[in-house]
Amino acid sequence: MSQTESTDRGNWNSKLGFILAAAGSAVGLGNIWRFPTETAANGGGAFLIVYLICSFLIGFPVMMAGISIGRRTNKNPVGAFKQLASNRLYILIGIWAVICGTMILSFYTVIAGWTFSYIIEEIFYGLGLQHWASWISDTENGWINAVFSVAFMSCTIAIIRSGVSDGIERATKVLMPMLLVILVALIGYVVIHPDSSEGLAMYLQPDFSKINADLIFAAMGQAFFSLSLGMGAIITYGSYLDKKENIPQVAAMVTTFDVLVAFLAGLLILPAMFMAQSSGISIFQDGALVAGPELIFKVLPSLFHNLGGTLGTVVGITFFALLSMAALTSTISLLEVPVSYVIDEHGYKRKKVALFVGLFILLISLFISFKVSLIGTFDFIFSQAGLPVSGVLICLFLSYVWKVDNAFDEIESGYENFRHTILGKVWQVFIMFICPVVILYNLVTSFL
Ligand code: TRP
Repeated sequence: MSQTESTDRGNWNSKLGFILAAAGSAVGLGNIWRFPTETAANGGGAFLIVYLICSFLIGFPVMMAGISIGRRTNKNPVGAFKQLASNRLYILIGIWAVICGTMILSFYTVIAGWTFSYIIEEIFYGLGLQHWASWISDTENGWINAVFSVAFMSCTIAIIRSGVSDGIERATKVLMPMLLVILVALIGYVVIHPDSSEGLAMYLQPDFSKINADLIFAAMGQAFFSLSLGMGAIITYGSYLDKKENIPQVAAMVTTFDVLVAFLAGLLILPAMFMAQSSGISIFQDGALVAGPELIFKVLPSLFHNLGGTLGTVVGITFFALLSMAALTSTISLLEVPVSYVIDEHGYKRKKVALFVGLFILLISLFISFKVSLIGTFDFIFSQAGLPVSGVLICLFLSYVWKVDNAFDEIESGYENFRHTILGKVWQVFIMFICPVVILYNLVTSFL
């Protein structure tokens, strides 16, 4: 904690700042894009229930673990594992986390770039420039992808350069409330539409026969991705948290906020799909609901176009603005991880590091821009499989290397006697046994 602390680390100004920033990291394309499409792909309500269970019973304890490790060490993920363990081997957990974060950011930036290009698409369409609208929204066009990836990464770098409280905290304090207002307004608009009820029913009435190993794997991967677990974002954000804050409480708030936004996004997207269907757009493909990029970047824009006139344009622009804000508060957390690593471990200045690390990741994004099919592969390796793997490693590390007692000491600096509370005891059992076993079992069965 010696010289590195004095360089360029930073701290949150307030507890609310941390909560909004961590919630901003959590709430992202994962909630508004990935969650509804996974729900659609996995038969609606049943997925929602398994996802809720995974978030609160597995995600929440792992998030507490991440915050405790970060706050104890005041370090980036690599530095944190280095400091807590005598054996250097454990640094690999931190390195894997930083790699996953870097790779996730590289493809996330391309998708985030689409949220920008679709704002322009909606404007062009509204102005009657249909030809331009379809040109700019061609997600197979590498050059267009590249331009918008550059635009998105530039915004991300700009915020990270300004630091933890002046950059991340300030940006998320504006973006998160705006996001919530827009989301609620759009839901209000969609659910009062008579044609949306079929979508609501499919979302809210679970069909339990749909639950199987694949669904659980998908729900677990989704919970980890959505809560930003397993790649050091939470460790890093936790490292800027004040000792007096109550870790279980802030983790619970972040988890609840994230799940809430995902739930709300489902209320928006699934009903909107059925509205789209009633306006003549096909929402089924080979018997299943359209999912993935097709849903957000084809079905919904067609719906906005069919609404017609100014209304369609306004709803469309608003929707993609919502997506881009959600994406931005997440990309900053993804970039902050490798940036904090370089600042802590090599002592360079934040402004330079943010620029160079951001540009390096942008190079990978540019490559992906021209080969978008890589997104699925990267998502599978680094998020669906990579994050749970590192989740297991974090639980095992905390329990058997660093030891739960030390984590209790850390948590108790903001929550007296935590180890003697029921929550404390339950948390210990979850972190030591239940979370690693469930996550591992889930990973193994779905690979077999
Ligand atoms: N949670 C974000 C989302 O839902 C994505 C994200 C940001 C993320 N930071 C992360 C995922 C760290 C995994 C790890 O879109």
